[in-house]
Amino acid sequence: MATRASSSLAPTLLLWALSFFAVRRALIASAQSLPPPKYDGFVYAEHPVYSGTIVIEAFLDPVCPDSRDSWPPLKQAVDYYGPRVWLVVHLLPLPYHDNAYVASRALTIVNMLNTSATFPLLELFFKEQVKFYNAQTLNMSKASVVSYIANFATQVVADSLKSAVVSGFENTLTDLKTRVSFKYSASRGVFGTPTFFVNGFSLPDSDSTTSYSGWRSIIDPLITAQGDPREENFYFL
Ligand SMILES: *[C@@H]1O[C@H](CO)[C@@H](O)[C@H](O)[C@H]1NC(C)=O
Ligand SMILES: *[C@@H]1O[C@H](CO)[C@@H](O)[C@H](O)[C@H]1NC(C)=O
Repeated sequence: MATRASSSLAPTLLLWALSFFAVRRALIASAQSLPPPKYDGFVYAEHPVYSGTIVIEAFLDPVCPDSRDSWPPLKQAVDYYGPRVWLVVHLLPLPYHDNAYVASRALTIVNMLNTSATFPLLELFFKEQVKFYNAQTLNMSKASVVSYIANFATQVVADSLKSAVVSGFENTLTDLKTRVSFKYSASRGVFGTPTFFVNGFSLPDSDSTTSYSGWRSIIDPLITAQGDPREENFYFL
């Protein structure tokens, strides 16, 4: 009896061991996706970046009210500077915003399907953000939230892509990609949104980033300090 029990146990153990290694390999495989093949984030306007281009990195959460309020003045400033400024938005879905990760995944999916729909969707999330707050979705199941957000996101793409947006939530790749955004933000030490880096340095918490004139007061001096690129201008710190 005992022998038979242990002999039937052996294949079970073997199966368990195999599945354990399979899971482990899957985990290692996803860990190996770092660094990602492409720099993380959504580029606001594609244009060449030179050593003198001012780089703004914005860390935003699509369901964060402060991120929403910070977007119009930043956008206005970036539009004003044109190719002198390069803006990339990184997502940091905050754990205390229940639907931040699903909303971020929707942005990742839409970005993969139609790059030009990314910012329209971000702005739509900002505009109708209240629908996705914790209190408003309290009684919804996780599955209904995912389907609600997936269908919401289809608004920014053509009919031909709508079903791909919805099925994007069943694709593990879109989950992994959204995780990379989170990991990137965390790796930069960002723990709240909105957070801004200019030329690689974090801006101190200030009111400057809440208005267009504030952004002008940050960027204008940098452009002045770079001097006229046609002159030989050595700038010593
Ligand atoms: C959630 O359900 C409770 C109990 O039925 C109800 O009192 C509450 O108003 C509901 N909240 C929302 C946002 O629907
Ligand atoms: C891509 O997105 C843009 C902006 O929302 C939209 O105008 C265009 O129709 C979309 N194209 C497709 C194929 O979804």
